[in-house]
Amino acid sequence: MMIHITRKEHFNAAHRMYREEWSAEKNKEVFGKCANPNWHGHNYYLYVTVKGHITHATGYLIDLKDLKVIINKYVIEKLDHMNLNKDVDFMQGKMASTEILCIEIFNQLKAPIEEHEGVFLHSVKLAETENNSAEYFGE
Ligand code: NI
Repeated sequence: MMIHITRKEHFNAAHRMYREEWSAEKNKEVFGKCANPNWHGHNYYLYVTVKGHITHATGYLIDLKDLKVIINKYVIEKLDHMNLNKDVDFMQGKMASTEILCIEIFNQLKAPIEEHEGVFLHSVKLAETENNSAEYFGE
């Protein structure tokens, strides 16, 4: 039996959408308020879904405490109350969009999660607002 399990986490972070090589006018035209030079913040919700077969005597796919520890260590501690453009090692030189951040979070989590035998990272979903979210399946 293949089962999917999702862990929800939360963090706050600041960012700005802009390209250095564009003028202030062009950045404002393309990114609107998100180009504000003085930054702005979001309350992000992160959904990490793992999959696999239940093989343990526990009836679990993975102990969700273990999954929580991995997500905190590799993602939340690096992002929470940080500036996505400046403070985050795995976002250096990248656009701080929901899409890119979602992909990079997936890439951070894949190896440590899959160290657990029989457990695979299925998807990462990142919601930047109530209305907007991105989801990445590793392809
Ligand atoms: Ni924004």
